[in-house]
Amino acid sequence: MKLLTLNRIVILNKPLPILEVKDLSIGFTMDDRYVEVVDQVSFSINEAEVFGLAGESGCGKSVTALSVLRLLPMPASRILSGEILFRGRDILKMSIEDMRALRGAEISMIFQEPFSALNPLQTIKRQLEECYDYHPLQEKKGNLRGRINTILRRVGFSDPGRILAAYPHELSGGMLQRIVIAMALLLKPGLVIADEPTTALDVTVQAQIMELLRELQKESGTAILLITHNLNLIAQYANRLAVMYAGRIVEENQVQDFIRHPQHPYTLGLLKALPNLASKTELVPIPGQVPQPSEFESGCRFRQRCGEAFDSCTAKPELKECKPHHRVACFLPEVGAGNRNE
Ligand SMILES: Nc1ncnc2c1ncn2[C@@H]1O[C@H](COP(=O)(O)OP(=O)(O)OP(=O)(O)O)[C@@H](O)[C@H]1O
Ligand SMILES: [Mg+2]
Repeated sequence: MKLLTLNRIVILNKPLPILEVKDLSIGFTMDDRYVEVVDQVSFSINEAEVFGLAGESGCGKSVTALSVLRLLPMPASRILSGEILFRGRDILKMSIEDMRALRGAEISMIFQEPFSALNPLQTIKRQLEECYDYHPLQEKKGNLRGRINTILRRVGFSDPGRILAAYPHELSGGMLQRIVIAMALLLKPGLVIADEPTTALDVTVQAQIMELLRELQKESGTAILLITHNLNLIAQYANRLAVMYAGRIVEENQVQDFIRHPQHPYTLGLLKALPNLASKTELVPIPGQVPQPSEFESGCRFRQRCGEAFDSCTAKPELKECKPHHRVACFLPEVGAGNRNE
């Protein structure tokens, strides 16, 4: 009996995934063919967890995020393979009605540019009300009109009336981003996708917005997929992260271990290229450029820029667990340093 109780506790303590992306490949049409701009990407996010997705511009972060809400441009793009499970339900197999019910209420998104995420011709009030006026999930609506005032105060506006009457051009970038955050949290979703939520803001406003997001996340237990090229931001706010390079995940780990023990030559390079004002150490850039999707070769996509590439790298390295919670797509950890090209 005791054992059963113990087993139950162990099961209850096991973190439950809210989002599981499995072997997801997405193609964009280029020269009459689909080029895999996202190639067999797999990761999972637990309930109430902040998961970082990092990588250079063009590596496929936003395309991955848009696919979770089925917002990819069609027919220019196509999901070539894979599954996206939200609390166990396959998003890619949901009906249009189910998707409408899911967006905003179960999964919402904070976009990079708050100004372009809002309608310049409508007041903030109208745009916040639209979030639920058109939402099919009646039970989520409740007393949402009252909630708008509460949430505006919660994101730092002491005078919601003035803000509700304003048009986007009358507000600063930081204010607009707080409105977009309020909008994303209005229907209390289980998962918020924050795609570069602070890139358009200056560093002091960026810190305020990130602190606000963290507070709200802790209060509501919402999971966050934090997408950014800024590893410092991920180190500060995320529990785990995955790093993408040219459409593939190259490394995934818990944040603290990632900083101390990076394994993939690309992530090592990224960490060496991070400015550190305290130590003033010289920055070491990664040589070369990220390949364009039309230039993707078979094998490891980083090998042209990798100082440690060897014969095996002409094959595609699978993302493999090298220790618990730590996965790397590189042949180096397998062969060990010093055994290459022997
Ligand atoms: N509408 C589109 N049409 C054609 N190709 C596209 C389109 N959107 C994205 N892509 C391709 O998909 C790749 C991944 O783009 P994505 O926007 O996901 O990059 P990202 O990692 O979010 O970059 P950034 O950090 O600049 O936001 C790009 O290299 C681009 O070639
Ligand atoms: Mg992007």
